[in-house]
Amino acid sequence: MHTMQQERRFIRNFVITAHVDHGKSTLADRMLEQTGTIEARRMKPQYLDQLDLERERGITIKMAPVRMQYKGHELNLIDTPGHSDFSYEVSRALHAVEGAILLVDVTKGIQAQTLSNFRNAKKAGLTIIGAVNKIDLPSAHPERIAMELANLLGVSPEEIFHISGRSGQGVMELLDAVIERIPPPAETSAAKQCAGRALIFDSLYNDHKGILAYVRVMDGALRPGDDVSLIAGGAKFKIKEVGRFLPEHQAVKTLTAGEIGYIATGFKEAALVTIGDTIVRLDSILHADVKPKILALPGYREATPVVFISFYPDGKTEFDDLKKGLERLRLTDAALSFEPDSNEALGRGLKVGLLGQLHFEITATRLTREFGCAFITSFPSIAYHVKEKGMWRVVKDPHEFPLDPDEVLQPMIAMEILAPAPYMSQVVNMKNVFALDIRSIHTLGDNVAIEARMPLAELIRDFDDQLKSNSAGYASFSYELDGDDKADVEKLEILVAEEVVPALTRIVSRRDAEYEARKTVERLKELLPRQQFAQALQARIRGRIIARETIAAMKKKLGDFGKNGGDRTRKMKLWKKQERGKERLQSMARVNVPVEVFREILKK
Ligand code: GTP
Repeated sequence: MHTMQQERRFIRNFVITAHVDHGKSTLADRMLEQTGTIEARRMKPQYLDQLDLERERGITIKMAPVRMQYKGHELNLIDTPGHSDFSYEVSRALHAVEGAILLVDVTKGIQAQTLSNFRNAKKAGLTIIGAVNKIDLPSAHPERIAMELANLLGVSPEEIFHISGRSGQGVMELLDAVIERIPPPAETSAAKQCAGRALIFDSLYNDHKGILAYVRVMDGALRPGDDVSLIAGGAKFKIKEVGRFLPEHQAVKTLTAGEIGYIATGFKEAALVTIGDTIVRLDSILHADVKPKILALPGYREATPVVFISFYPDGKTEFDDLKKGLERLRLTDAALSFEPDSNEALGRGLKVGLLGQLHFEITATRLTREFGCAFITSFPSIAYHVKEKGMWRVVKDPHEFPLDPDEVLQPMIAMEILAPAPYMSQVVNMKNVFALDIRSIHTLGDNVAIEARMPLAELIRDFDDQLKSNSAGYASFSYELDGDDKADVEKLEILVAEEVVPALTRIVSRRDAEYEARKTVERLKELLPRQQFAQALQARIRGRIIARETIAAMKKKLGDFGKNGGDRTRKMKLWKKQERGKERLQSMARVNVPVEVFREILKK
């Protein structure tokens, strides 16, 4: 055991990285157990997964960092979220460590995120230790998968660890390798100028201490009471507390270079403390003849939302409750942004900016689960750059999209799809449905790796589910944003009884416009209740109707005036009255698309 101030050479900082479900959290549990960090009796599965939601869905959004004592060393394990929506956060976390365990499930083999995790770890200059997991399973082919992994890493198969996170087999040996192979934190070149400097790789909201910045200290030392500044964010504050992860927070006197821990900022607003920013002691800036920007650790980027979805309160939820829920979520999620939005049919709502589909699902589930909110969500939209009358502007709301723009640019993604060889043609054929521009295909063990480019808009059109169903669930993909390209898109408007329903306006690619138009009016026809008059359902592009359906009028019996003719004038009067009633109803019908219909039609 060493003194409070840990010597650098006894510190190892690392991540476990793996494709979803390959067993990262389970391995972390065994490590906690085998290092005695958590007593076996306190152990529960996926100890480090903090949110109930994570445990339930079995996906790790973020796992708590933890410090373990093992064979005289301090081992800091931090997590990287596995999904592409959070790729920027992954890259930041990788810059907080020196090594990575790349874990592969022997029953699944290498998958798309195994590849992107490997590349990211390599790009960050990390020492990578390969391990195949779940060797306790009878269906396992550890030798073959270990060979594939060795090939990927460019090492011999003997260097790959064979482990079971479930039984604990091989986990001690893996921990030994962490100490032997991963280098201790090195001194940075700016160390001499820096009294204290740290990289923020994550953050957490705490009711009492405000936002806690999870940091890797790069130079010098940080203590409570130090005056510090956030270089990108610009905010200055006095450190309230510093501490370590046991994994419970434990306050300490100092965090020194090489260590991983937290810094209590006292801020209440997540947006002030962003991942990738640098915390620097003000005396570093005053002393040396340096400008603060020079002390910024490289790679900071603002999280930019790319998908926009409006949330409208539904049922018992009030607008203010929905807003409050989102405000609370934003305290812990600096990537979340929102602004007021309103809609004739759905009332007041909030347009939420998100990093992608998973980010949306997490946000929606947390709003429901943690804040009891009920809501309807709009079609997802993305931000287009639109040129109209020579001027460029950003359009996020389909309703504001011009009918005939000069030029439109849309965000693109570069993606890598990994599929078992027998499914290759089915996956490649997806280019008939999605604007998938396949750049290269090469084999990788039993898989084919397909590199492609695609508009981001295609991804939110259910690409994920389609890929799964075209590959019996085996194919996987990862992606990153890859600039803007010219877009061939149209504004599709839906009209009910001759009037546009703004909530149903969407931007669609030209080649899908007719299909989407037809699908929507057909669906509306099924869903809308009949009225006493015929209702026209139309889809319009650039002022032209391209799909049409009619809901026939409800057959309502006119008053029966008896076989003997009755009073003709009385009959005429009644007819007239009913006609007037119909007109009135017709004008009312314009806004009368019931909420249930929106709920159904906006459902994916
Ligand atoms: P994400 O957090 O979603 O990325 O998943 P993960 O990589 O953390 O995987 P997790 O540890 O949640 O494990 C996924 C599933 O595999 C769970 O059902 C585990 O019980 C199971 N599992 C993990 N390790 C082993 C193992 O060594 N053997 C067996 N048989 N099952 C395992």
